[in-house]
Amino acid sequence: MANEIRITPWEAEAFVDYDRLIKIFGVKPLTDSEIALLKRYTNEDHMMLRRRVFYAHRDLDVFLNSYGLGRRCVLYTGRGPSGSTHLGHLLPWIFTKWLQDKLGIDLFFQMTDDEKYLHAEGGDLENYNRYAYDNMLDLIALGFNSSKTHVIIDTEDIRYLYPIAVKIAKKITFSTQKATFGLTESTNVGMIFYPVLQIAVAFLPTELYGEQTEVLIPAAIDQDPYWRLARDIAPSLGYPKPAQIHCKLLPGLDVGGKMSSSKPESAVYTTDDPEIAYRKVLRAYTGGQPTAELQRKLGGNPNLCPVFKMYEMMFEDNDSKLTERYHACRSGTILCGECKRELAERVAKFIKEHQVKRMKAVDQVEKYLIRYKFDVPLIRKRR
Ligand code: TRP
Repeated sequence: MANEIRITPWEAEAFVDYDRLIKIFGVKPLTDSEIALLKRYTNEDHMMLRRRVFYAHRDLDVFLNSYGLGRRCVLYTGRGPSGSTHLGHLLPWIFTKWLQDKLGIDLFFQMTDDEKYLHAEGGDLENYNRYAYDNMLDLIALGFNSSKTHVIIDTEDIRYLYPIAVKIAKKITFSTQKATFGLTESTNVGMIFYPVLQIAVAFLPTELYGEQTEVLIPAAIDQDPYWRLARDIAPSLGYPKPAQIHCKLLPGLDVGGKMSSSKPESAVYTTDDPEIAYRKVLRAYTGGQPTAELQRKLGGNPNLCPVFKMYEMMFEDNDSKLTERYHACRSGTILCGECKRELAERVAKFIKEHQVKRMKAVDQVEKYLIRYKFDVPLIRKRR
């Protein structure tokens, strides 16, 4: 079971055996042939594909063939606004934006303030709702196209989802829900229902456009249980099965886990002062030896180093420079301090520039909200 290696949508580690996850979840590894197919339409390589940061999929080929045939296609992703956005959240968004630009298609983006409220021990619902708006600034700062990007905030835009959710809910038994999401007898009933809403967005485009719409979901692999269920149900409700492209989780700066809001020192937030971001990177755990002397003698282990992973997954797009760094680490010719300083500079620069765009995003929010752009589908039909 997935639980053995601690990966459910609410609990995940970063240095997990990703190949095993492919088997457990029953998804396909991303191969050169899908990457080549994607390149046919994007005319560009993406570092996150080459390096298999995005590394698994379901029906990506089917989605791309539909795209090639001129059928209506969209992207869907989302965020549980539990706090400030960190670099680990931006990773799939950066790739999603690239896909949106290259394919020229719409993106539906779900902000699940309800999910995060229901999941948390404490906290006000209003607080999660505020974070939904706060996190939107990061989305906008990345440069998503406002006329093609539609944000759904669950607690406010539920009328778009509810009629679809009702139909989905009727198809899922309590025992399926329990087994799929690792729920227990003491799980609150909000959390039992919530997955229905995450699935509903995958079917919403077909309702909004009034035509069969193919959906591709770029997301971290820990979200897979939702999509498996969505795909099971889709045909019986008359919707196309959504396709997925799955990415790995950005490791946190401390030992072992993913970059996580529950461990603030492990994460670089987009709202961190660039100075603080710089210092967090300098304090990061590495795959290095305890002393400089040993490091020179034995070399480090980039495979288990969050600093190296940050270069590989986000901050070094030049392949030969990355390979050079890898070997310099292995052979002990570069020490962790130097490697971290270089990364800290890049991270601080990125954060600084992002914050300027984030400021400018403040008065752009409305342009992205679905409620100002689409009629509610089922109500429209009734009129
Ligand atoms: N459950 C996701 C989270 O906790 C939020 C989410 C909603 C999402 N819809 C999505 C993530 C679609 C990826 C794709 O962050």
